[in-house]
Amino acid sequence: MHILGIETSCDDTAAALLTQRDGRFVVERSCVSSQIDIHKIYGGVVPEIAGRKHADSIIPVIREALGNARPDAIAVTAGPGLVTSLVVGVEAARALSYAWGEVPIVRTNHIEGHIYSVLLGDNPPTEIPFPCIALIVSGGHTELILMRGHGDYTLIGRTRDDAVGECFDKAAKVMGLEYPGGPKISKLATEGARDAIAFPRPMCTSDDFDFSFAGLKTAVLYYLRDNPTANHADVCASFEQAVTDVLVAKTLRAAREYTAASVILSGGVSANRYLREGLHNALTNELPACTVLIPELKYTTDNAAMIAAAGWFHAQNREFTPWSELTADPSWELVR
Ligand code: KG4
Ligand code: ZN
Repeated sequence: MHILGIETSCDDTAAALLTQRDGRFVVERSCVSSQIDIHKIYGGVVPEIAGRKHADSIIPVIREALGNARPDAIAVTAGPGLVTSLVVGVEAARALSYAWGEVPIVRTNHIEGHIYSVLLGDNPPTEIPFPCIALIVSGGHTELILMRGHGDYTLIGRTRDDAVGECFDKAAKVMGLEYPGGPKISKLATEGARDAIAFPRPMCTSDDFDFSFAGLKTAVLYYLRDNPTANHADVCASFEQAVTDVLVAKTLRAAREYTAASVILSGGVSANRYLREGLHNALTNELPACTVLIPELKYTTDNAAMIAAAGWFHAQNREFTPWSELTADPSWELVR
């Protein structure tokens, strides 16, 4: 079976062709056309521009991913995301399904795609050991999800205000760094001292698995207002340390409480090296029996191979949506 993945939930137009060999996913081609150069002029994603750029890029990107192949199914991101962006991918999937004689469509959730990104790469794992704790950290989401099997999700914690990626991007903006700020902060942080500034660790010791990052962002803002000559590398390093401490502490506690056989770290912020290493080291030291699954760098940020991988499991169960019923749902939460 070959699945065509299509992803247009935010500012990346992506398509990928995925198959399986010996129980492992094989990404035949994964193509991503990024719009960052346009949106960074405005300091963030402009929905109308994003929609128009997706419309320009969607056919060339799909054509490149397909080559001469004709897929057996199409997995397309239907939500969550920006509606002006989502509709472009959804309409492309509808049109292809119709034109190809009702090729089945899997309506796929973007967050589920991030979870399954851990099964992609050069020599990827064949399975996710369950029960699994998934920490999803992206520009719009910060969630701890308990997974008891494929498609079996329970939300155990989420951010009460800003998502981690949003917090990185806003803190970066205060320091005059370009959108998206996450990668810029993480680069500058390597030159700074992790213990230079005592930023707060919001909700680090609270009894639940929720997060709050708005206060940390404000702490960076106030620190820079009161210390205009502050060394930005120190600010970035101390900020990254505070974020990592909170995420690692809560994930470790969740893994213990639910006797997790594996922990997944995914979403755009999982590209952050300090967080990847911090979580990996903490888990291998404290819970050596627990498998740590973190996507290869190229599959951390938005791509369509992860959408095809998540769609694969639904396709196995024949969970298809006819093109005539397929719609985008910008506020589709994987679990509430
Ligand atoms: O998953 P993603 O590509 O898009 C959404 O679904 O939101 O995540 C984008 C987010 C942005 O906030 C970006 O700043 C953040 O991921 N990000 C990072 C890094 N690379 C991307 N944050 C911290 N460190 C990084 N290296
Ligand atoms: Zn994403």
